[in-house]
Amino acid sequence: MNLILLGPPGAGKGTQAETLSAKHGLVQLSTGAMLRAAVKAGTEVGLKAKSIMEKGGLVSDDIVVRIIKDRIAEPDCQGGFILDGFPRTLPQAAALEKMLKSSKKKLDFVIELKVDDKALIERISGRFSCAKCGAGYHDTFKQTKVAGVCDSCGNKEFIRRADDNVETVQNRLLAYYKETSPLIGYYFAKGLLDSVDGMGAIDQVGGSIEKVLAKLD
Ligand code: AP5
Ligand code: MG
Repeated sequence: MNLILLGPPGAGKGTQAETLSAKHGLVQLSTGAMLRAAVKAGTEVGLKAKSIMEKGGLVSDDIVVRIIKDRIAEPDCQGGFILDGFPRTLPQAAALEKMLKSSKKKLDFVIELKVDDKALIERISGRFSCAKCGAGYHDTFKQTKVAGVCDSCGNKEFIRRADDNVETVQNRLLAYYKETSPLIGYYFAKGLLDSVDGMGAIDQVGGSIEKVLAKLD
């Protein structure tokens, strides 16, 4: 099963992808996480992406398409994947279609997470993640079971994202409405879109996604 999670910054794409990948044995492909790793490693891609990400803009289609194309071709993706944060523009969607077609793969679902703008800001401003394994948390909505200890790997160090500040979030939202939201109509027209209410608690949203995925059985 191959699917896309579509939604604005802070909608819960990464959170839901984490659960879905564990439950269904799918590979989570987060372009945001891949780009952050490139920035940290100081690679050529990282150097190009750094200032754009800090401002909340979109990294060029060429760069992200290349990253995804290489990653999707790897053996672990043959059993299915979840695209989290890709595609983000119409040209990226067209490139994805082309690469899937040439490798005889297809998209099964595009799931849009619908969340109010005010809630997005609240979610982003309380977000933190494990510095070692990347598991995501929230100060209020998804706390660690034991304070200061990662549920997944037991690590005690956590990080907050450099782009999770008010000014950058405004730009990220703007980029979403301008460049990414047209994908909702694009995938609806292709008969692939399912919209899910993303305003409930994390488990509730997960349940709504599972109902959509059950259509495949
Ligand atoms: P990326 O990392 O993809 O960031 P984003 O799209 O802004 O999305 P987020 O990761 O902020 O939100 P999310 O939906 O994953 O929410 P999460 O689950 O963490 O991209 C970063 C940057 O990289 C971009 O700005 C761009 O520069 C670049 N980039 C990436 N991909 C690109 C591409 N394809 N093309 C060009 N540039 C690209 O949840 C947020 C918080 O809320 C968490 O703390 C979580 O615990 C909590 N939460 C989740 N669900 C709920 C719920 N139901 N109720 C309460 N709290 C919840
Ligand atoms: Mg994310």
